[in-house]
Amino acid sequence: MSTVAEHYERHLGPIYVWMAGGAEAALQLGSAEIEALNLPVTRGAVVLDLGAGFGMHSIPLARRGARVTAIDSSVELLRTLTKLRGDLPVQTVNDDLLGFQSHITEAPSAILCMGDTITHLPDLGAVENLIERVSVELRPGGMFAVSFRDYSVPLAGEQRFIPVRSDETRILTCFLEYEPEAVLVHDILHERTSNGWQTRVSHYRKLRLSPEPVINCLQAKGFKVRREAGMRGMVRLVGECV
Ligand SMILES: C[S@@+](CC[C@H](N)C(=O)[O-])C[C@H]1O[C@@H](n2cnc3c(N)ncnc32)[C@H](O)[C@@H]1O
Repeated sequence: MSTVAEHYERHLGPIYVWMAGGAEAALQLGSAEIEALNLPVTRGAVVLDLGAGFGMHSIPLARRGARVTAIDSSVELLRTLTKLRGDLPVQTVNDDLLGFQSHITEAPSAILCMGDTITHLPDLGAVENLIERVSVELRPGGMFAVSFRDYSVPLAGEQRFIPVRSDETRILTCFLEYEPEAVLVHDILHERTSNGWQTRVSHYRKLRLSPEPVINCLQAKGFKVRREAGMRGMVRLVGECV
């Protein structure tokens, strides 16, 4: 099994933008999601994007005038973000998202952890620890937004094979294998080369996180929580630091 960082570096990173439907479409989706979040972000506000990937949310935020710090463990995806951001004020940081506090110079108005990033953490304790630290760092009235897939109810049989995207040169299929606390995500990639089709498979572990413990933890840290439907079947939680 690969670590998350290895999986993104070797397997998903090079095709991530393709997987997300192309840069333009993905940034449009990210922009719509930023609109829906209704964050307290005025011009010059500081925002942290944890597990920012290629900047699906960081770039739309910067277009709205925020100063964004985009943290990710994938050098490959941060390289893509740097190309896509142009002159926008998005600072990229290659680090584990749990180390986010060492990259704060001003209290953030918002902290994001979107697109099923939080399920990459090793266990619920790490999720609670992250929320604790976020609650300490946000400005009063600041917001924490998180979106993730609820893997708590297992898919069965052939439902565990999920077609992600395909075109004439590439097919990406995901296969899920359940453990009590985690799900092993196998990404099966077929690519057409000059020597015919080639197949590469890599898998990594994601947490089977359900929304309730995350909501409970946010509320225990003093957040007022909004729960809504996120993109592509994800759960979205928005906590306001009151
Ligand atoms: C599913 S992608 C989501 C990317 C982006 N937030 C989005 O919505 O498109 C998860 C991202 O989190 C990053 N990641 C996973 N675990 C991480 C960690 N512990 N620290 C920093 N980045 C991490 C991966 O490299 C990847 O870019």
